[in-house]
Amino acid sequence: MRLLVTGGAGFIGANFVHRTIADHPESTITVLDSLTYAGDRTSLDPVADRIDFVHGDIADLDLVDELVSGVDAVVHFAAESHNDNSLNDPWPFVQTNIVGTFSLLQAVRRYDVRYHHISTDEVYGDLSLTDPERFHEQTPYNPSSPYSATKASSDMLVRAWTRSFGVRATISNCSNNYGPYQHVEKFIPRQITNLIDGIRPRLYGEGRNVRDWIHVDDHNTAVWAILERGRIGQTYLIGADGELDNRTVVGLLLEEFGRPADDFDFVTDRAGHDLRYAIDSTLLRTELGWTPQYGDFRSGLAATVQWYRDNESWWRPRKAATEQMYVSQGEKRL
Ligand code: NAD
Ligand code: DAU
Repeated sequence: MRLLVTGGAGFIGANFVHRTIADHPESTITVLDSLTYAGDRTSLDPVADRIDFVHGDIADLDLVDELVSGVDAVVHFAAESHNDNSLNDPWPFVQTNIVGTFSLLQAVRRYDVRYHHISTDEVYGDLSLTDPERFHEQTPYNPSSPYSATKASSDMLVRAWTRSFGVRATISNCSNNYGPYQHVEKFIPRQITNLIDGIRPRLYGEGRNVRDWIHVDDHNTAVWAILERGRIGQTYLIGADGELDNRTVVGLLLEEFGRPADDFDFVTDRAGHDLRYAIDSTLLRTELGWTPQYGDFRSGLAATVQWYRDNESWWRPRKAATEQMYVSQGEKRL
């Protein structure tokens, strides 16, 4: 399959490119990425001779038209992805997540190219800590942040282009990913790299918010299952039954670094902070036969810690600016 992978220099996109080359060596891959602060071309260094890299913007209609005309499928990862940034400056989220998706949809419509849209469980809003129901394919959309609102908008564009123009699209909404090549602004890499630097981890609010963790490789094997066997027009939720509150995750990291269990700080909470996400991935598992391979979060986390220890040259250049960004967004110890 000739693939166009947008956002392939970001966290999940780069892991997708690595997995694809390992598991589907017959594929040819073009990566389209504008290398924002979150994109890093060196994440693709190990596979540089196996891909074509195009430095460009998904909202560039002419460029996208030309690239889409030469492929069999588009897998669309590119996005502004960080909630905290969306609260500070929503405009790039509107431009990339909504206008950028529009630009891709127009091109796949014109050339009748298969399209898979990567989305998030955050479009469904949040759950109470005790809600017995988890998010599923029929859960109504109820986004909380500018980030999740723009992702929800882009999902709606995909649904409309499928119904009205016959675009051959699928959508997946996945929970929180962890693993190698994740930007140090995100929760797990931020705390790992803080601990490597001898800084106490930072928990927003009371640290009771729950996220449903999945290893990035499990996300990407699910994307391949949908790409190969998914029903056109269908949404699939991707999750690996990995619910944990943020305090527990920090506790596991402190244990991994041999530090006392109370060696962390509570800091300013995120405005509108979603309390809990939880995914019911029954449809994906029963219809497409997908199962996650990383059942044990503790060992996946230990491997991720080891990756950050071994790859300091990858994350170090962004660490100071990221921490400065948190200071300028008003983060304070409680
Ligand atoms: P990321 O921020 O690490 O990477 C985003 C990539 O997109 C970067 O390489 C960036 O340079 C590129 N990009 C941004 N704007 C662009 C533009 N206008 N044109 C071209 N490239 C552009 O993000 P991520 O965490 O890898 O997330 C990838 C996708 O997965 C996003 O769509 C996100 O909404 C979704 N998602 C993420 C998670 C998660 O836990 N990280 C979970 C579910 C869904
Ligand atoms: O659920 C999927 C989503 O997961 C994706 O759509 C987003 O792109 C991705 O960024 C992620 O969103 P979150 O907001 O859940 O991830 P983040 O890593 O920013 O935060 C995870 C949790 O940890 C959240 O409850 C906020 C909290 N947190 C975060 C940081 C950076 C802290 O307590 N301390 C921190 O320093």
